[in-house]
Amino acid sequence: MMRQARNRSSVSGSTAKHGAAMSQPAGVQQLETLGDRRIAVTWADGATSRYHFVWLRQQFFHPATGRGDQQPGDPLRLPDIPEDLVPGDCSVEDGSLVVRWANDDAVTRHELGWLRRNAYDRDQRLARKARQQSWAGEEVTESEWLDWEQVIRDEEALFGLFVTLRDRGIARLKGAPFAKDEVRRLADRFGALRNSDFGMIGEIVSKPPDKAGRYANIGAGSAVPLAAHTDEGWRYAPPGINFHLAIENTPTGGGDSMLFDGLLAAERLRENAPEAFAFLSCEPLRFAAERNPQERYYSHGRVIVTDQDGEIVGIRFSDRTLGVQDLDGDKIEPAYRALRAFAIEMYGGDLVYRHKLGPGECHVFDNHRVLHARSGFDPAAGPRRIQQCSVDREEFHNTYRQLAEKLGRMDDAAMILPNGALG
Ligand SMILES: [Fe+2]
Repeated sequence: MMRQARNRSSVSGSTAKHGAAMSQPAGVQQLETLGDRRIAVTWADGATSRYHFVWLRQQFFHPATGRGDQQPGDPLRLPDIPEDLVPGDCSVEDGSLVVRWANDDAVTRHELGWLRRNAYDRDQRLARKARQQSWAGEEVTESEWLDWEQVIRDEEALFGLFVTLRDRGIARLKGAPFAKDEVRRLADRFGALRNSDFGMIGEIVSKPPDKAGRYANIGAGSAVPLAAHTDEGWRYAPPGINFHLAIENTPTGGGDSMLFDGLLAAERLRENAPEAFAFLSCEPLRFAAERNPQERYYSHGRVIVTDQDGEIVGIRFSDRTLGVQDLDGDKIEPAYRALRAFAIEMYGGDLVYRHKLGPGECHVFDNHRVLHARSGFDPAAGPRRIQQCSVDREEFHNTYRQLAEKLGRMDDAAMILPNGALG
C-alpha cells in the first residue's frame, strides 16, 4: 500500500507530498506500508526510516514511555503478535504519525521528531552512536585545561566537559580551591557518588616505608610505581567516571600521573595481533581482590568489551588484581599470550599521557576506557595527597542526556553511548 503523507498541520494545512523544508528534518514526504510488516517514513531530506508494526505498537503502549491509553492498574501487557497486526489508515496529523489499526481499532500516535531521533535502520542507528575518538598521549598534553569554577557554575561549560568525556574519555581541569572534599563539588554535577575501594571520597596519601623499608601496600597508598590499570576490575561493575584532584604533590621527582587510551591500545591490538584481540574480547578472565580477610571479591570480565557492531566499548585491565585464572586448560597459555600482547600495545610508546598533577589540578577520566598509572616517588621528600571519587557511568549518562535536552541539543541527547566494560 503506497500512500502520500497527509499533513493536517493547523499552521499550513497543506499536504506534505512536495516535501517540507530541509530545515525541518521531521517533515514527511511519504508513508509506505511494506510487505514485511513495517511502515516506511520518507523524510523531507530524502532519508527513509522503517518501523516495524510491533515496534510502533510496543513503544506507544509501553507503560513507562508510551503515550497511549494505558491506565494505572492495567495488567501486564504482553507484546503483540507481529503477524496479527494490520495497519489501516496511516497519516501524518499535527506533526505525528497516526496509525489506525484494523485488527483491534486501536489508534497510535508518534511524534515525528521522536520517531526520527529513534530511527533504527542500521545506517541511522550507527549515525546516532557517539563517535569515540582515540588518542595518543601527546594529544592530551596539548589539550586545554578547563576552568574548575566555570565548569561547576556554567551549564554550557559543563556540557562541554561532558562531550569531551563522551568522545575522548578524559578531561583535565585546573583552579580548584583547597577545601575538604572539594572534588565532590564537581563530581556532584555528574550524578550521585558511588562507594568504592576508597569510600565515597578518598584521599590518597602515600605512607613512608616502615623501618624495614617495606611499603604499606602495593596499591594507591604506596609510593611504588603503579602499572597501567583500570580501577576495581574485580567488581562486576567497576567504578565509572573517576576524579583525581591534587591537593599536594611531592616537590621532588616522581608521583607523575600517566594515562593511556585503552581504546587505542585495543584498536592497535585488533590490527597487529588479531588472535589476541579475539581472545580478550571473547573470554572473560578472572579478576580478584583478596588483600585482607575482609576481601573475597571475584569477578569474570572481558578485558576488551565490544558491542553488537564490533565497536570497542569497554576495557577492564589490571596486573595487580588479575585473579587466579580458572579457564579451560587449553585457554591458559593463549590468555597470558594475549594479555602480554595487549600490554605491549599499551606501553607502545606514544600512548602515554604523562603529567604530574599540581595543586588544584584534576584529571577526570572514564575508568571503563582509560587506564591510569603512577610513577614511583620518595614519600619522605614531601606529601602527595590526591582527592578521589567516582560516579557510575549510567548516572553520568543520565545527567548528560537531561542536560542535553535542557540545552536543546536533542541529537546529543539521543546519541547511543558506549555501555562500558560490563560482561
Ligand atoms: Fe587506580
